[in-house]
Amino acid sequence: MKVLVTGANGMLGQDLCPILEDEGYEVIETDIENLDITDLKTVEKVLSEENPDIVIHCAAYTNVDKAETDYDTAELINAKGTENIAKICTKIHAKMVYISTDYVFDGTSKEPYKPTDKPNPINNYGLTKLHGEVAVRKFCPEHYIARTSWLYGIHGKNFVETMISLKDKPELKVVDDQIGCPTWTVELSNGIVKLLNEADYGTYHVCGSGHTSWYGFCKEIFNLSDIHANLKPCATKDFPRPAKRPAYSVMENNKICRNWKSALKNYLELRRFE
Ligand SMILES: NC(=O)c1ccc[n+]([C@@H]2O[C@H](COP(=O)([O-])OP(=O)(O)OC[C@H]3O[C@@H](n4cnc5c(N)ncnc54)[C@H](OP(=O)(O)O)[C@@H]3O)[C@@H](O)[C@H]2O)c1
Repeated sequence: MKVLVTGANGMLGQDLCPILEDEGYEVIETDIENLDITDLKTVEKVLSEENPDIVIHCAAYTNVDKAETDYDTAELINAKGTENIAKICTKIHAKMVYISTDYVFDGTSKEPYKPTDKPNPINNYGLTKLHGEVAVRKFCPEHYIARTSWLYGIHGKNFVETMISLKDKPELKVVDDQIGCPTWTVELSNGIVKLLNEADYGTYHVCGSGHTSWYGFCKEIFNLSDIHANLKPCATKDFPRPAKRPAYSVMENNKICRNWKSALKNYLELRRFE
């Protein structure tokens, strides 16, 4: 089976591709320099020439704060780019996997979001990713939409590495009133493989089981790393950012991924050897 991955140089792509190879897939890695997803002609040419059985679409505009002032670029990449991939997947009879986000939800729920719950994004990034979902459903019936959240991995700028780099600050304040599901890129990659092997087409939540706040996440990172920092909880209002974040974006994952704490423990053990 041949799999083409878009955004293969990104944080997820770099963990996903070797895992797919280990699973026996022939993997075609693409990124903006050889497959700019916003150019329909290029998408058609590359996908037709490679003729994959599956396209895993990881490429995205992922700067949540910047998207507030750069909506057009975020929309072009996350919505139009995804539409291009969806249309050509259908043309070449390839299955499509689209990686989406918990930020499609508004965070007002009191219980974990189900894949069938109504999205209502509160920032531009979430809105453009939702437009991507709509395009996938419209143009590529043979699809999996995998919503994930609070992603971290060894190959990208992420919360775990940022917090470790700040450990020596005299005081480290971290937001305690946003609740979500931390997810390791390796767990998400294994979850994608599981969907391809076992699941019907549709929308799934592929994130760590359980939930925590950013403060709780940081506390666990430091506990597991034996770091003694002066960590203090704070409120979202004390840490203003250009884009609003949902207060509660916990997603029900039907046990596709294991508990976020045990995944984090593995990540922290492995990163010592990188
Ligand atoms: N990170 C998170 O916390 C998070 C949470 C939920 C969902 N997600 C989703 O998970 C997926 C993977 O995220 P990630 O963190 O791995 O993202 P990432 O590290 O930012 O990687 C995205 C990749 O897409 C590439 N790209 C950007 N524009 C492109 C274009 N026009 N054509 C082709 N490639 C393009 C980027 O290249 P450049 O670096 O050169 O721009 C980058 O290599 C994304 O769909 C994202 O929306 C992420």
